[in-house]
Amino acid sequence: MKTNWIPRVYALGLAAALAGCGGGEAPPAPAEPAAPAEPAAPAEPAAPAEPAAAGGEQPMSPQLQAVLPNIPAEFKDKVNPKSGDAAAIEKGKQTYMTVCASCHGEAGKGDGPAAVALTPKPASFHAKPHLTPGQRFWVLKNGIAGTGMSAFGAAMSDDDVWSVLAFADTFQQGGAPAGGVTGESH
Ligand code: HEC
Repeated sequence: MKTNWIPRVYALGLAAALAGCGGGEAPPAPAEPAAPAEPAAPAEPAAPAEPAAAGGEQPMSPQLQAVLPNIPAEFKDKVNPKSGDAAAIEKGKQTYMTVCASCHGEAGKGDGPAAVALTPKPASFHAKPHLTPGQRFWVLKNGIAGTGMSAFGAAMSDDDVWSVLAFADTFQQGGAPAGGVTGESH
């Protein structure tokens, strides 16, 4: 019975996605059934709500590993056109607090209220990034199949995606981007 974790993991993810984002785009099929090379299932249903690592390394989920090859090479070196743009970052912050914080946490630590039910956990923006800015852009547009991270491509313009990512980058930089935007008020 070494494969019996798959449906359970999937059921958890699905329930979480439904609970977490009001029934957005629940992935219709389990991600690559053949996938995991690791013997250890990533989801320990018994392990409750541990927030993703607040800093340092966080392991890459099998689901993210599975989508990596789908990200077209041209995204790898894309530069965020909104990086350091204070007005865009402020707008991105509003999007982030409205759309992303429930999972990724208001402080970007991957510990928003909806994270409790999610496996894998939402990424912490304080940890070493798995993805380049351009790859993050693609993930925002297309989602990560089999996780709570749904596709925002239909809901957000390119500018909105770059802006919210520029804001998310400020967590990595200590929360106070160069344009004088602070995390305290707006
Ligand atoms: C319903 C919960 C949920 C919402 C809402 C959500 N995410 Fe996610 N997000 C996740 C989960 C879960 C993962 C981790 C998936 C994995 O590790 O395979 C993730 C992963 C990511 C990643 C990949 C990070 C990495 O390097 O591993 C980025 C970037 C990201 N989210 C940004 C956002 C942004 C920006 C928003 C708001 C527009 C958002 N997410 C909204 C759950 C969510």
